[in-house]
Amino acid sequence: MTLILAIESSCDETACAIVRADRTVLSNVIASQHDLHREYGGVVPEIASRAHVQRIIPVIDKALAEAGVSQDQIAAVAVGNRPGLVGSLLVGIAAAKAAAWSLGKPLIAIDHIQAHLYAGLLDTNPTDLPTEQTFPALGLVVSGGHTASFYMTDPLSCQLLGSTIDDAVGEAYDKAGAILGLPHPGGPKIDKLAQAGNDRAFDFPISRLDKASLDFSYSGLKTAVLYAVRGIPKPPAPGEKAAFQRDHQDLTDAHKADIAASFQRAAVRALILKLQRALDSIKDQPDAQNPVSLFVGGGVSANSLLRTEIEAFCDKNGLVPFIPRLEYCLDNAAMIAGLAHERLARADVDDLTITADPTPTRAVRR
Ligand code: KG4
Ligand code: ZN
Repeated sequence: MTLILAIESSCDETACAIVRADRTVLSNVIASQHDLHREYGGVVPEIASRAHVQRIIPVIDKALAEAGVSQDQIAAVAVGNRPGLVGSLLVGIAAAKAAAWSLGKPLIAIDHIQAHLYAGLLDTNPTDLPTEQTFPALGLVVSGGHTASFYMTDPLSCQLLGSTIDDAVGEAYDKAGAILGLPHPGGPKIDKLAQAGNDRAFDFPISRLDKASLDFSYSGLKTAVLYAVRGIPKPPAPGEKAAFQRDHQDLTDAHKADIAASFQRAAVRALILKLQRALDSIKDQPDAQNPVSLFVGGGVSANSLLRTEIEAFCDKNGLVPFIPRLEYCLDNAAMIAGLAHERLARADVDDLTITADPTPTRAVRR
């Protein structure tokens, strides 16, 4: 069966995967750089691209070995080429071009955000899930760099409905984690800490924006967490900096867990609220077909509360939920390979002139 080798290097994960045309993932190798960036409290682009250069070849070799296939069995090479950190993207693109050229196989450039949406289809059988029963769909991407909703008419066509006007939800998780003194990335740690907390202990703001807005906003919630942890700063004397009353070391573990749980409740409620608005806005358009399913992807789709709330939202609205398995939520190359199969099946391939494009996805139509 046709095999695609895909590479993903848009941020701080160097990844390579081999996926079969029936969406079976044969290998999914991810070399994370979290340890390299931890002391800086976030991803340092220059460190990320250098680390990709060191890791890319071993990661490709490992993906081939784990899949138990040789290079000449590969039918096409795919790579995430947008959006992302430009220096990081360039490393994956250079490796993918070299692989495609040396093997004499087609090269396919894939949109990272669209691939996150596709992740819910990995390891599902296309014959059990025909496209006409799955689309049109509502899409939600929730990651460290992106928070956006989409209307999808098939896996290769999506149109932006709403996106964040400031921070991404994953970024808010990571900043809230840093304020609470948790190591980067804070998202999974807040998820865990929240299990022990009271989610009503703090009345953090749930961003709504204008009545009809489909956009998201997380900067207000982030500031609310900062003030809950450190107190409201006293107005500074002329020439001095604003002084906070305390920091996370002065809080008890129970207090921190309450803040984490209340933050998580507000962050997830805002996502569900905006999803409902997005769905209602499509239903209000006389010429748009109503979604039959919901695709969710990106690192924050690993969040335990969001996964439960998405199921409930889908139940309420009669949608089929496509939530990726945990290993396909965070950045990975299996999602790139899966979506590339849809392109290859249509003989829609690229050539060696592809370039890195750091700009966020608005619409993709093929
Ligand atoms: O999709 P991803 O790997 O990278 C981007 O494309 O940005 O997402 C990474 C983000 C980080 O902000 C991380 O804290 C967040 O996903 N994340 C979580 C969880 N696991 C990862 N956020 C909340 N709860 C989690 N369980
Ligand atoms: Zn991502």
